[in-house]
Amino acid sequence: MAWLRNIIRNDLSGVEKYRYGKPVSELQRELGLEKVVRLSSNENPWPLPDSVKKAIQASLENVNRYPDPQSNRLRRLLAQKWGVSTGEVIIGAGTEGILHSLFHSIIEPGDEIVCPVPSYPLYRSAAIASAARFVEVPACDGESWDIGDITGSCTAKTKAVIISNPCNPLGRIMERDRMIALANELDSRQVLLIVDEAYAEYVDDSNYLAGIDLFRNIGRIVITRTFSKIYGLAALRVGYAIAPKTIVDAYDKLHPVFEVSRVGQYAAHAALLETEYIKDIRLKTVAERTRVQKALSEMGVATGLTRTNFLLIKHPKSGEIYERLLKEGVIVRRGSDLGLDGFLRVTVGLPEENEVFLSSLKKVLVHFA
Ligand SMILES: Cc1ncc(COP(=O)(O)O)c(C=O)c1O
Repeated sequence: MAWLRNIIRNDLSGVEKYRYGKPVSELQRELGLEKVVRLSSNENPWPLPDSVKKAIQASLENVNRYPDPQSNRLRRLLAQKWGVSTGEVIIGAGTEGILHSLFHSIIEPGDEIVCPVPSYPLYRSAAIASAARFVEVPACDGESWDIGDITGSCTAKTKAVIISNPCNPLGRIMERDRMIALANELDSRQVLLIVDEAYAEYVDDSNYLAGIDLFRNIGRIVITRTFSKIYGLAALRVGYAIAPKTIVDAYDKLHPVFEVSRVGQYAAHAALLETEYIKDIRLKTVAERTRVQKALSEMGVATGLTRTNFLLIKHPKSGEIYERLLKEGVIVRRGSDLGLDGFLRVTVGLPEENEVFLSSLKKVLVHFA
């Protein structure tokens, strides 16, 4: 059997597996708990609108047939929404699926992807899958980056810089002026800027610059968005990108042809038309977020500024608090899984879920008073 080891890629020996949030069913099984609250993956916890449920039901007809490999109906709707051509839209299996194929389509041996960190750990996984060197740029003050540090980390081998805006896990935005400066500088260096806007729909800040404006002005930019967050379709694996046609054409040559299921295509199409629902989810999330932050502050727990559906809690005993919360049936995210030691990341859930979190945290913190 030894030869099997020899056929595995050498560069995978130092690679760690992705550390995902614990699934509810696993915690229930391990601890025999009946009720578990999961606040670890920044999903939309509210029920889906009826139109989306109906679309999912309708999509189940004909599942014996392959889905439309081009997701044409959804593609046209997205192109119309953003005022771009259908040839500038990628639809893929979530942001994750899109990044894997996108990196495969631009990376040659020895190429680099530059990424300001802390950031979404799947960027690293996708870069490694395409055998790119993943170059990290640490935040200068723990919460923002010097644009010069990012551009200064680019070499002749750098194909792209990837950032999440707003940033997971920090929850903050990169302000308009800095985005423009970064985009222009990278364009002049012929490095592709990829902006992951998974949480953009939650942002209400006039200093936020949606990547589509950069796309309209500069053109040589890729923006990714997802149906996994505010649209509430995380399990169906649908995301999209707005990208220059040259990139879309390359992507089309090597992505898994049937990567977006028919169920996902139908659901995403219906969800995109639900503009009032999306507004409502944003308002409810922000209201709950404010309430949770206030309750935490009354408990002496500080949270930083966030423009997203999650909060960061700083505590020197965050690892132990995480373990104790699990025993209470509350799953949050360990900052250490996200390159942020000493923090917990907590998704804003339904009001009753947030109550369980707050009362469990209060109970747990007694041990660290
Ligand atoms: C920054 C960021 N991008 C993308 C995603 C979602 O990816 P997908 O569309 O693959 O579900 C997440 C989910 O946690 C995220 O935090």
